[in-house]
Amino acid sequence: MVTKTCEKDLDNVIDEMVDAVEKSRDEIFNISEDARMEHEQLLRELEVTKEKVQLYIEKGDQLERNVQFSKQRLSEVNKYFDRYSEDQIREVYESTHALQTQLATLRTEEKNLRLKRDELERRLVSLSHTIEKAQGLGAKVSVVLQHLNEDFRKVNDLIIEAQEKEEFGLKIIEAQEEERRKISREIHDGPAQMLANILLRSEIVDRTFRSGYPEEALKEIKSVRKMIRSSLYEVRRIIYDLRPMALDDLGLVPTLRKYLNTTMDYSDVEIEFSVLGQESRLNPKYEVAFFRLTQEAVQNAIKHAEPTLIKVRLEMNNKFLNVTVQDDGKGFDPEQKRDKSFGLIGMKERVEMLDGTLTINSRIGRGTTIHIHVPYE
Ligand SMILES: Nc1ncnc2c1ncn2[C@@H]1O[C@H](COP(=O)(O)OP(=O)(O)OP(=O)(O)O)[C@@H](O)[C@H]1O
Ligand SMILES: [Mg+2]
Repeated sequence: MVTKTCEKDLDNVIDEMVDAVEKSRDEIFNISEDARMEHEQLLRELEVTKEKVQLYIEKGDQLERNVQFSKQRLSEVNKYFDRYSEDQIREVYESTHALQTQLATLRTEEKNLRLKRDELERRLVSLSHTIEKAQGLGAKVSVVLQHLNEDFRKVNDLIIEAQEKEEFGLKIIEAQEEERRKISREIHDGPAQMLANILLRSEIVDRTFRSGYPEEALKEIKSVRKMIRSSLYEVRRIIYDLRPMALDDLGLVPTLRKYLNTTMDYSDVEIEFSVLGQESRLNPKYEVAFFRLTQEAVQNAIKHAEPTLIKVRLEMNNKFLNVTVQDDGKGFDPEQKRDKSFGLIGMKERVEMLDGTLTINSRIGRGTTIHIHVPYE
């Protein structure tokens, strides 16, 4: 429950952050787009202004020449003013003056155009900086987004995994205690009680014999022997449950075969067991691991899936060990987290400790296949 809440909270926080950062990235992109468009427009304006400046310069030069020419005429008129009529003199004056005024206006306009051109150039430089900055910022924000989406979520997964491991550790302690309680109850109810009974019965045998009833005593001994046999069976069963000694004595394959046969006897499920590759003794660490992994997978199938058939396939060679446990039962959603279930988590832990991989293929109504692959040299 705690794990789920944390996971949700952290996921929500990350979602909100991703949202906010995505908005910022979009805003930055808009700013950069606006700046780029303005830049293009200013560039066009600059071109036009430059052309105009050129035109005004040419026009000015032409006017300048006209003014010079007019001034020459004026000085000529001044020099020989008796040769010209009053109207002619005024006309030359006026046209020179008009030309000079025109030239002054043109030069002012040209100057203004130059100022505008310089201003446009300054704004273009500043806009280029803005665009560059916006693009740099956009790239950085994208990196942040990537971190948020990938690394942060990974951190979230790691936290969840760490929490699961912690819970698993606690569960192990609890399970140990539970196991001890179970064993003590089993020994108390089974072999201990039987031994007490045997002791009592042996006293009866003693008394019966002493009282001169040897036939009766023999009968009693037979029944005591039966009790001893069943005590022995019980003790052996308890020991087997604790840790199948056959695992150490005979190895993985015979122990698994025996376990699966007994399981089949006690349940209504058909179990097919096949071994591929060469049957040989393995490092004890791997034998225990593969026994427990198969045991948990088979127990899960029987406990949860209501299958009719379970297929267990073990493959061993000098590179890897594989085990596949396939059932034709109900199936389930492996992604769904379960608070009080530790079997699958324990399997995952065991496989990880051996640098292997565990894959679960399951679909509701279509059965489950658990595949474990562990490197083994
Ligand atoms: N073969 C299967 N078919 C259907 N459901 C399964 C199968 N294996 C596991 N499950 C589902 O996955 C859950 C988790 O399994 P897991 O072994 O982790 O826990 P558990 O068996 O419920 O408890 P335990 O901690 O005792 O193993 C089960 O409760 C069950 O719902
Ligand atoms: Mg289980």
